[in-house]
Amino acid sequence: IINLVLLLAGAYLLGSIPFGVLVARSRGVDLLKVGSGNIGATNVGRTLGRKWGILVFVLDLLKGAVPVYLGKWLVLHDAEFVAWQPIPQLAAVGTAVCAFLGHTFPIFLKFQGGKGVATGFGTMLVLLTGPDFFAILIWVVALLASSIVSFASVVAMIAFMAGYTISVDGRPFAFENILTSLYCYIGCSMVIVKHHANIRRLLAGTENCMKPSFRRER
Ligand code: G3P
Repeated sequence: IINLVLLLAGAYLLGSIPFGVLVARSRGVDLLKVGSGNIGATNVGRTLGRKWGILVFVLDLLKGAVPVYLGKWLVLHDAEFVAWQPIPQLAAVGTAVCAFLGHTFPIFLKFQGGKGVATGFGTMLVLLTGPDFFAILIWVVALLASSIVSFASVVAMIAFMAGYTISVDGRPFAFENILTSLYCYIGCSMVIVKHHANIRRLLAGTENCMKPSFRRER
């Protein structure tokens, strides 16, 4: 059980590392005070340029994917570790939840974190494969159609939940799926709720398009 607690705590701490803030600080920018004020890759991209945005997206994605991979690996390779698990899914889904909560409520930023798109996606890439690619496709189409990242992200979350529901044959709350389902529906809903300021701007027609902006608009 100590291994599980260490794994979950490690996932939360890794998820809490605000790579966007650190990368921006290394370039002399306080990310919390520019653009949308968000700590994620989109705000880094609009503030510092696309290549920095991609770097932060990859780092944020990895801090979600790596702990889940480790959790799954331990379940498969450490018999003692598995012996403590009532449900083998627990280690993988638990690490996903902790890494996601680390990014959205990071201890290093007084629990004022990001929206969880890249980190949540990183966790899902290791947990499930089918709905990820469907959600990416919808994200790309929505982004090309609107040039608005937040709109694409919110639509992709809805697509992810729909894709997941279909890919588990409409049995998301069967015993073997229940933890993953709860994470999928609650996690995606949290990402949408975290976009509340973006949604308000979208409805008002004032949301940031993919153009550089240094105004604080949160
Ligand atoms: O992943 C966050 C994105 O969907 C919106 O970011 O900076 O425009 O609030 P931002």
